[in-house]
Amino acid sequence: MKPPLSVIPADLVAACDYARHASEHLDAASWAYLAGGAADEITLAANAAAWHEIALWPRALADVRGGHTRVTLFGDTLAHPVILAPVATQKLFHPDGEGASVLAAGVLQGAAVVSTQASIALETLAASAQGPLWFQLYWQGSRDTTLALVKRAEAAGYRALILTVDAPVSGARNREQRAGFAVPAHAVQANVGAPVLPTIRDGRSAVFDGFMAVAPRWDDLAWLVVNTRLPLAVKGVLHPDDARRALQAGVAGIVVSNHGGRVLDGAPATATALPGVAAAVAGAVPVLVDGGIRRGTDIVKARALGASAVLVGRPYVHALATAGALGVAHLIRLLREELEIAMALTGCATLDAIDAGALFRV
Ligand code: FNR
Repeated sequence: MKPPLSVIPADLVAACDYARHASEHLDAASWAYLAGGAADEITLAANAAAWHEIALWPRALADVRGGHTRVTLFGDTLAHPVILAPVATQKLFHPDGEGASVLAAGVLQGAAVVSTQASIALETLAASAQGPLWFQLYWQGSRDTTLALVKRAEAAGYRALILTVDAPVSGARNREQRAGFAVPAHAVQANVGAPVLPTIRDGRSAVFDGFMAVAPRWDDLAWLVVNTRLPLAVKGVLHPDDARRALQAGVAGIVVSNHGGRVLDGAPATATALPGVAAAVAGAVPVLVDGGIRRGTDIVKARALGASAVLVGRPYVHALATAGALGVAHLIRLLREELEIAMALTGCATLDAIDAGALFRV
């Protein structure tokens, strides 16, 4: 296992190159945890494949002078729409953990989402942040305990809450199970302890009477919206009816996500689900998307299908493992440069200019 790099090698020219390098900087079990998806990894594979299947129309002789990639989300204007997705326990991947990711996002004038399960306390990360941070919230079993965490995020200066709703019970990630993965002591989550689950008596189900007994429901979402002063988005919505229901509950945004294929194997690819959610939301709130975004062209496709911005997960963790904050900053820059090129070649000077007309359909 190689130590992290402090200079970027010349062969690192795209996000996929970081995946190749990262595997050399991580032990086999951590790699299996990061790379794997749920069960047979059908959804994990589908995420990337679905972006690949979408074709773009190149447009000739376009005047895109003065173009830019700026986007405004939850009251902050960001230089580009590449947001760092919440990824748990990042000290697994680099000694600087989330500190490096947050630094890189800020320096590149973008936003990062800090996981409830970060290996550095949310207050510590916020104190050194150079740009807007959003806090990813996992429901903490009860309203009181959840609200206590929300108030900490508010007090620390987070700009939005992202409530993850797709993982009330974790999909069995067989690849990491086979590798015997366990979070080592130096990387354990710093914000909250492990969730307390009800004791399961004979004949009862660990899923229905355990995990799902302490999972949030629609009335909890509506309650949360009115009990925080932060804009609250839900992450992990794929069904248009769930998007409508979330809107009724008063959310300020929706993240179309299947958790990077890590929860319900067989769930649709996010590129496939995005148009239905965007149609249901009909511009009422921003729709974001993640899962398999690896290229600037994927970001144009996401915009054309109705997303305001994208989140990237594994790619920046690959960069983190390879070269810490420097790597993450470089990765964000690569994606932004690819996005600018793709916009110029599709004749779009701004993100708002990208619409369904950018997509080639037979
Ligand atoms: C995640 N993801 C995640 N999501 C979340 O809401 N809270 C979390 O703590 C985590 N933790 C986490 C750990 C690891 C190792 C991975 C790979 C992913 C999901 C993440 O936010 C995002 O939805 C996906 O990673 C996006 O897909 P890609 O970009 O990895 O394909």
